[in-house]
Amino acid sequence: MLQCAVHWALPANEPHMREHLDDGERERYERFLRAEDKARFVTGRHLARSALSAATGLPPADIRFTTECPHCGASHGKPRLPGHDVDFSLSHSEDRVVLALAEGAVIGVDVERESDRDVERLARMVLAPPEREILTAMPPDDRKRGFHAYWSRKEALLKATGHGLAAPMTAIHVSAPGEPAEVLAWDGDAAVSPVRLADLSPGAGYAASVAVLTDRPLKISESPVPGA
Ligand SMILES: CC(C)(COP(=O)(O)OP(=O)(O)OC[C@H]1O[C@@H](n2cnc3c(N)ncnc32)[C@H](O)[C@@H]1OP(=O)(O)O)[C@@H](O)C(=O)NCCC(=O)NCCS
Repeated sequence: MLQCAVHWALPANEPHMREHLDDGERERYERFLRAEDKARFVTGRHLARSALSAATGLPPADIRFTTECPHCGASHGKPRLPGHDVDFSLSHSEDRVVLALAEGAVIGVDVERESDRDVERLARMVLAPPEREILTAMPPDDRKRGFHAYWSRKEALLKATGHGLAAPMTAIHVSAPGEPAEVLAWDGDAAVSPVRLADLSPGAGYAASVAVLTDRPLKISESPVPGA
């Protein structure tokens, strides 16, 4: 079993949560125009520092993330904590912030608010042909939820590999919403194997998933969403 810890938080922006931001993080914090974006960012980095401090014994002030993109060298890559065998991933959407943590394996997490986006149009950019057929066959009222379930599973995978939206989601074929989450097929340069996928419990109106690059079954301990 591979232990995987998932922590949920609601966005907040308390002074103590900003205490250990490094210079780059402070700059980014200042650049966010909207208070909600500042809060989601601060909450995520605070969650990550607290959990990584507990996992490694490092004081939160000594936790410095690298975000170098392996493809172009710019600082928009997956945040990592160098020198430690613990990997983490952060995601935020509306009123949810989530951190996932694993020791000895690479991890990705994604949460998506089930918004009223144009699901038909987005499905062409996100879903593989067999997934689109399944979505189309769903009762119309279930399609929004179904689409976001697919989306969060795929984005969790691409956040684990660090590709993010730079790799095509249509190249990934995952199991249908409502069925145990698993990768059925994955073509292209971003594809990895073995990989484990699981759905999380983000509360009503959200979809969330975690992906871990391992062949070991996952043992997920997930904190409840505060107040949900
Ligand atoms: C990663 C990405 C998918 C996040 O999308 P999103 O839906 O807006 O946001 P989420 O809330 O789910 O995730 C954001 C968090 O993912 C993490 N993250 C950022 N880039 C990441 C990457 N490449 N891989 C994995 N995680 C990443 C960060 O922790 C970020 O939150 P924070 O900066 O506030 O701490 C998107 O920003 C992306 O595709 N980035 C990479 C783009 C890229 O690499 N382009 C050019 C390549 S040369």
